[in-house]
Amino acid sequence: MFESEINAVAWENDRLVLLDQRRLPGEETHVHCETSEAAAEAIRLMVVRGAPAIGIAAAYGAVLAAREAWREDPDHWQLAIQSRLANLAAARPTAVNLAWAIRRMEACCAGITSGDPAPVMLREARAIHEEDRLANRKMGEFGAELISPGSAVLTHCNAGALATGGYGTALGVIRAAWGQNRLIRVYAAETRPWLQGTRLTAWELLRDRIPVTLITDGSAAYLMQQGRVQWVIVGADRITANGDVANKIGTLSHAIAARHCGVRFMVAAPVSTIDLATLDGARIEIEQRAGSEVTEFAGLPLAPKGCDAFNPVFDVTPAGLVDALVTERGVILRPDAEKIAKHCQ
Ligand code: MRU
Repeated sequence: MFESEINAVAWENDRLVLLDQRRLPGEETHVHCETSEAAAEAIRLMVVRGAPAIGIAAAYGAVLAAREAWREDPDHWQLAIQSRLANLAAARPTAVNLAWAIRRMEACCAGITSGDPAPVMLREARAIHEEDRLANRKMGEFGAELISPGSAVLTHCNAGALATGGYGTALGVIRAAWGQNRLIRVYAAETRPWLQGTRLTAWELLRDRIPVTLITDGSAAYLMQQGRVQWVIVGADRITANGDVANKIGTLSHAIAARHCGVRFMVAAPVSTIDLATLDGARIEIEQRAGSEVTEFAGLPLAPKGCDAFNPVFDVTPAGLVDALVTERGVILRPDAEKIAKHCQ
């Protein structure tokens, strides 16, 4: 099995430590969060990003919230923690893992009947983290089995160790397939405007000595038309009950091009990304970020002064364009509402 030593999220010396993904690949620096508000702010600013990593960071953020609430009012800490948990849950809207992790930490809170809650909450946060790591290993193995030796794959955004508790979802499949000598090439789409592909996926794969070829987002359809990739493999921020997939903006274009060109489309995501309470993708809140992410780069203007920009950062790929959905429980081919419900039982 191909290992990865990258840790985007850690708990050290009683605080949350995040690898600052805004600064990669130039600098490997860390942000230390001592308060639940600092954890929420780090999620909002994308110091930490990627659906499972956001959920894990929020779970540790809930430990900080428990510490604050206990110090503030040991008799009524379960009340004092509520607004802090709500603040964490609201940090980013689209990735369901965030709400899922907070719900799980709330349930943990509810079960604490006496004493300092922080140690119990920390055990739960660590469990969420460890479960995600293990889920990624399993997904990697299941997903790799679908890939014939000699294949080339395209991935979008960063669904790797940086976006998870470790190893990655889409990049977990790619790591496992690479380790089994199934891949001849990995293409990474740059992923405008935040450049998760250029800055993060390329960094992560090269660090693990997996060669990667970077392409502009606009080159993906051409690459597929030329028959140069056999699979598009992506992660997900939310998968609705009918199998629609919210993921980084640009994913939908790849899925449409893949179907047109006869390239297969795989989504790798843990069961915690499946949101059975949301019927279909039209009901997902799509995060809109500042237009300056499009009109500027690293503070430098790209567009003329005063130019408007539309910056939705996720899109929804209809289930009908997905050939395989891979979770830690196995593979769903051509996912639909019935297959997903059965898978999640
Ligand atoms: O805005 P980001 O960088 O948080 O978006 C991340 C993605 O869209 C990932 O593909 C998704 O969260 C899956 S990560 C395993």
